[in-house]
Amino acid sequence: MDYILAPSILAADFKKLGQDVETVAAAGAEYIHIDVMDGMFVPSISFGMPVMASIRSCTDKVFDVHMMVEEPGRYAEAVKAAGGDLMCVHQEACKHLDRTIQQIHSLGMKAGVALNPATPVETVEWVLDQLDMVLIMSVNPGFGGQKFIPYAIEKVGRLRAMIEEKGLSVDIQVDGGVGLDNVGRLLDAGANIIVAGSAVFKNDAAANVKEFLKIFKEHENR
Ligand code: DX5
Ligand code: ZN
Repeated sequence: MDYILAPSILAADFKKLGQDVETVAAAGAEYIHIDVMDGMFVPSISFGMPVMASIRSCTDKVFDVHMMVEEPGRYAEAVKAAGGDLMCVHQEACKHLDRTIQQIHSLGMKAGVALNPATPVETVEWVLDQLDMVLIMSVNPGFGGQKFIPYAIEKVGRLRAMIEEKGLSVDIQVDGGVGLDNVGRLLDAGANIIVAGSAVFKNDAAANVKEFLKIFKEHENR
């Protein structure tokens, strides 16, 4: 399995955001995780398309856009125009999830569905064959720097089994409270894309990325 690190720029230093993106990209992060929050689906408001567009020229890495937004389909075209490569929407935020997934694909983006901690993995069973990625939230979305919810590991395992049973190859991303201490258990359970905000951007971001990649290498060689 190939493992990918997706640093969440929510934890970056916004006064030098472009530079922070370049740093983690140069250190080996393949995805840049972009947390868009609307103040409705989640309590806080983060940033939106103008910020995303302004850092698009910093890197050609995958822009992985995590939409913590009610009815995110309303913004699919704007996400694409701002440089989004993968648009991930919450199952809980879409009245017509199947249609929203189709809409994302029709714009030429990869499609992901995110599940809040309390949302069962079975809720994506019937759309799994249309998805590029499922995001298992390991904190309640809305803020960086929260404590990891351990039962997320079991959800990853159950989802990986469901994907294999159907003979599909869907990425499993985990987001929230992930650090060097618990990432190994998530890879063991079947996750292959790891989001990390505070664990990457605290102190030396390049060094932190390299530490994650070292753990990924050990797991790849198993
Ligand atoms: C939470 C966001 C996460 C967050 C992760 O709502 O979706 O991407 O930035 O931050 P850490 O890794 O600090 O928990
Ligand atoms: Zn996120």
